[in-house]
Order: sequence, then C-alpha cells, then structure tokens
Amino acid sequence: MSMRIALFGATGGIGRRVLARLLLAGHTVTALSRRPGAVVAGPATRPITGDVTDPEAVAATVTGQDLVVSALGVATTRPDTTVSVGTRTIVAAMAEHRVPRLIAISGNGLGVNGGPVVDRILTPTLLRHVKVEAQAQEAAITDSPLHWTIIRPFRLVDRWPPSVAYRVAESFSPTVVVRWTTRDDAARAIIEHLDDGPRSVLWVASGGR
Ligand SMILES: NC(=O)c1ccc[n+]([C@@H]2O[C@H](COP(=O)([O-])OP(=O)(O)OC[C@H]3O[C@@H](n4cnc5c(N)ncnc54)[C@H](OP(=O)(O)O)[C@@H]3O)[C@@H](O)[C@H]2O)c1
Repeated sequence: MSMRIALFGATGGIGRRVLARLLLAGHTVTALSRRPGAVVAGPATRPITGDVTDPEAVAATVTGQDLVVSALGVATTRPDTTVSVGTRTIVAAMAEHRVPRLIAISGNGLGVNGGPVVDRILTPTLLRHVKVEAQAQEAAITDSPLHWTIIRPFRLVDRWPPSVAYRVAESFSPTVVVRWTTRDDAARAIIEHLDDGPRSVLWVASGGR
C-alpha cells in the first residue's frame, strides 16, 4: 500500500538509500533538509527547507503523513544535541498532528557488542558524548506514546563486507568479532520494518557472522 512518509536525514548516507527505496516502493516522501537541493528530486518527492530543531519546519514536514522515518545524524565526537533535540521536536509534532508511527536509526548500539576495542576502550572515552546523545535520542522516542521501531546498526560502512546476507534481531550473542552494518542494509531494515508495531528495538548486522 502506498503511504505518505516524512523523512528526516534524506540527504545522508542511510537516508539517501531509504529515500530511493521508498520511491521505488511507490510511496510519497516529504523530506526536510537544510540543503533541499541535495534531496533526490522526483514527482513523488516533496523537499522542505529547514532545520530539525525548528518546530515550525518539523510540523510542516509531518502534517498529513502516515508515518515518519528518521535517519538523522551528526558526525562529531563533541557534545552535540541536534539529534536528541530534533527527535524530541519530531515526536512532539507527531503527537500534535496525530501521526502515529516513527521508525528511527539510533546510535545507541555503541558499547554493546561492537567488539572489545569499541566497547571497552572507545565508547567510554572518545565516544562518550556520542553515547550520551544516542541515549537521549532513544529516550525521546521510548518515552513517547507513539508506535515506534528503533533500528540500531553496528559500525556503519558503505561497502564492507559485500553484504549478501544481513540479519535483523532483537539481540545478538556476544562476540569478540567486530560487527559491521552497511548503510544499504540499515536502509533495507527500515523499509522491511515500516509496518511493524507497536514498539521494538532491532539490531541490524551485515554479513553472515
Ligand atoms: N557511524 C557509525 O558507525 C554509526 C553506527 C551506528 C549508528 N549510527 C547512526 O546512524 C545515523 C545516520 O548515519 P549516516 O551515516 O546516514 O549520517 P549522515 O550521512 O551524516 O547523514 C546525516 C543526515 O542528518 C541530517 N541532519 C543533520 N543535522 C540536521 C539538522 N540540524 N536539521 C536537519 N537535518 C539534519 C543531514 O541533512 P542535511 O545536512 O541535508 O540537513 C543528513 O541528511 C547517525 O545518527 C548515527 O548516530 C552511526
């Protein structure tokens, strides 16, 4: 069934791939970006110019939609609340405009089964602000009355390993091997779980391990 979908992060590594797959599946997409010219154009795409922390721009993006997809991200290890504040803004606009369901990419997989170097060394040090922000983002979603799915990728890559297989699960068993997720598999997981409900946290890993 064709749906009207609001997409945040449509110009990003995961978001671009989500947009392409949504359009291929016949959905109509309203995409908020600070760079609307970078949103892939098409008859079923409606770009909106704005910042995700601006309630007016976010309301204009979510009003009249069937569901919302978020692939927001900020590439910094410094303290930055864009994604958590933006997610709170999205959730508030969805509640106000009666959009029932959100599916969002989360960075909260950090420190869990990413391999010993990431989990024991990097997450508590270099990545500590990233972890705090990812937890705040998830709290904005899980504290809401919405129906939601949180998608947690492992270390994101564009091409490695060539992903013929990928796995989506509610948990993964511990391993000393670093897990990876291609951005394409993260996008695929979003598309395949658009209709889930009412609430779930799903991990996505590329490859057969
Ligand atoms: N790196 C990893 O290994 C890893 C692992 C697991 C999870 N993750 C999570 O994956 C997510 C997405 O990754 P990615 O590689 O696809 O990210 P990305 O390529 O950096 O894309 C980020 C997107 O967020 C949008 N955005 C950022 N700030 C915005 C603002 N103020 N207003 C509106 N839009 C804004 C950007 O849009 P515009 O610039 O066009 O406005 C862009 O489309 C991140 O949240 C990250 O936490 C990352």
